[in-house]
Amino acid sequence: MPSILLFGVSGLVGSHLVLALKDKYPDFPVTVFLRNTSLDTYLHDTASVRRIVHGTFDEKDKIVALAKEHDIVINVGSSWDVGLSEAIVEGLNQQPEGKKTTLIHMSGTGNFVDKRWKDGASHPEAKVWDDNNPEDMKLINPSMLNGGPDTVVLNAGKEGKIRTYIVFPSGIYGEAAGPVPALGVIQLVFREKVKELGFVPYVGQGTAIFNNLHVRSITPFMLKVLDHALQEQSPQGSVYERCYLIGGQEVPYKEVSEAFAKLFYAEGLTSSSEAKSVPLEEAGEGELPMLMASDMRFVSNRAKALGWKHDEVGLIEYLGQQTKN
Ligand SMILES: NC(=O)c1ccc[n+]([C@@H]2O[C@H](COP(=O)([O-])OP(=O)(O)OC[C@H]3O[C@@H](n4cnc5c(N)ncnc54)[C@H](OP(=O)(O)O)[C@@H]3O)[C@@H](O)[C@H]2O)c1
Repeated sequence: MPSILLFGVSGLVGSHLVLALKDKYPDFPVTVFLRNTSLDTYLHDTASVRRIVHGTFDEKDKIVALAKEHDIVINVGSSWDVGLSEAIVEGLNQQPEGKKTTLIHMSGTGNFVDKRWKDGASHPEAKVWDDNNPEDMKLINPSMLNGGPDTVVLNAGKEGKIRTYIVFPSGIYGEAAGPVPALGVIQLVFREKVKELGFVPYVGQGTAIFNNLHVRSITPFMLKVLDHALQEQSPQGSVYERCYLIGGQEVPYKEVSEAFAKLFYAEGLTSSSEAKSVPLEEAGEGELPMLMASDMRFVSNRAKALGWKHDEVGLIEYLGQQTKN
């Protein structure tokens, strides 16, 4: 049975994925690498994890040694940490000559924000990225939001020893499974923003497009990618034909910010239930202003061919339900 090494098990996506792996592949020995030391009993007894290794992503030697021992590495821990991806690749490359290993990396569609316009308005001419077009995927580079690790993974895949697959989700909402109430990146940055500014902003007229998807839709697709990888002795096509962009509804940022504002008002995090329009320069710190200022458009043709679908509750409805609870 192929062994799996999973990074990010205590996160929003990883918390669901580890349970899905147990259900679908109960015989595959799963190792998890995490820094949280309070989850061992849950991971062992409930998630049927075979081996638990504690550490942080800067412990390169530990990560190299672990990757060297496993057939498949799934990284839903960081789409930003170049050192982590380099250590994974180094370990996989140290496996015996002739042995094919697999790396399934989770990146993000934050790469594909069209920064030609930063006024918060939607522009019909904004680039629509297509995961089925290798020429689009070839444009991925380290200057993009998640492009550093993507480049490490793509280059490793080109060398041919590691079968690489990259899944790029858009903004993820929903609740974590398991004992850690992980918010994931997008829900966290909206929360940090309201704490920073005292209100929830949107940039300009707020018609720029935010694509988003429910966390529950991601695990079935990750399993499809894993199935696909297991079936492919020699992957067909180039590394660029193993990139999958996944998303759900396209919602203007103004609507997204208004829905978060109502939730945060109900939770007492802000004194206003209304979102507020600001110029980009006044939207504060972090990556959220950059994301809000521009369109992020893509189509999932390759992912759809592999079975991608999003039939979960939409973001605005989800936040509305959270507000009532
Ligand atoms: N959520 C989104 O909207 C979104 C959108 C696009 C792409 N992505 C990408 O998809 C992947 C999964 O996202 P997510 O929302 O599930 O992320 P998440 O909830 O933030 O989970 C991150 C996981 O990585 C672990 N981690 C982070 N830094 C670490 C370190 N230095 N050492 C050890 N462990 C560390 C966290 O452990 P702790 O529990 O100890 O913190 C957690 O298990 C990430 O790569 C993310 O960038 C997310």
